[in-house]
Amino acid sequence: MTASAPPDPRTPVIELRGLDKSFGPVQVLHDVAFSAHSGEVTALVGDNGAGKSTLVKCVGGIHPIDAGEYLFDGVPVQVNSPRDAAALGVEIVYQDLALCDNLDIVQNMFLGREKRNGLILDEYTMEELAAKTLAGLSVRTVKSVRQQVSSLSGGQRQTVAIAKAVLWNSKVVILDEPTAALGVAQTQQVLELVRRLADRGLAVVLISHNMNDVFAVSDRIAALYLGRMAAQVRTCDVTHAQVVELITSGRSGDLGLAGTNGNGNGART
Ligand SMILES: Nc1ncnc2c1ncn2[C@@H]1O[C@H](COP(=O)(O)OP(=O)(O)OP(=O)(O)O)[C@@H](O)[C@H]1O
Ligand SMILES: [Mg+2]
Repeated sequence: MTASAPPDPRTPVIELRGLDKSFGPVQVLHDVAFSAHSGEVTALVGDNGAGKSTLVKCVGGIHPIDAGEYLFDGVPVQVNSPRDAAALGVEIVYQDLALCDNLDIVQNMFLGREKRNGLILDEYTMEELAAKTLAGLSVRTVKSVRQQVSSLSGGQRQTVAIAKAVLWNSKVVILDEPTAALGVAQTQQVLELVRRLADRGLAVVLISHNMNDVFAVSDRIAALYLGRMAAQVRTCDVTHAQVVELITSGRSGDLGLAGTNGNGNGART
């Protein structure tokens, strides 16, 4: 990558074009286009098995992509491992790879990236940074950063997972169904945090099945249907009903996948 002019503010931080992904003989993602912008929450929606988690795992370098382009700040990049993604500033809070229950908050936040003083772990610095990050996100419900994660509520766990992503100066934070197991108040807390991250200039991608959450916090909505991107639209341009239609049939009026309009990519923004 070469040093160049500052990126055009309209250039998405992450842009995927023509992404294909198969597991053995089964193609899960077909020619997917997707983008996420700084300062915005992009909701990624779709039915169970539509390919949402697979898509973000491709973004996070867990799954190599079979074909397609991955651009970061408009520059083509190769992301072959989670380390490559982290180096770009992409952090993902995975649906199925949660925090380690038997470790405390600090240990979780620095897992694999511990600060050291010579050979010894620099517990003091890590503790301070963890506490500062949580405080910076206005998280006040966690009593001590030395609390074991197993003793936290679902909402607090999500908060710690998000704070972990923020701690590493990420530009992009992707959250795979962060509110799926949460009650009303905790969901509210996590959604407020999601909005704050975007307001701080990060690009946030939120996977969710909950239309109320999607409409409450997102600026854009990307709808996957059977492994294809049915549409990527501004939230203010669509209704709940249209998004539900996109999720369940891949189409809604003139929006969505080809078949009747011959357009094929559904992109509007
Ligand atoms: N490692 C894998 N090996 C084989 N098939 C996989 C693998 N991961 C996902 N799949 C398949 O890919 C398809 C998409 O799965 P994915 O987990 O991406 O869906 P999703 O949209 O995240 O669904 P959900 O809303 O239930 O989380 C499914 O049919 C799933 O069985
Ligand atoms: Mg999933």
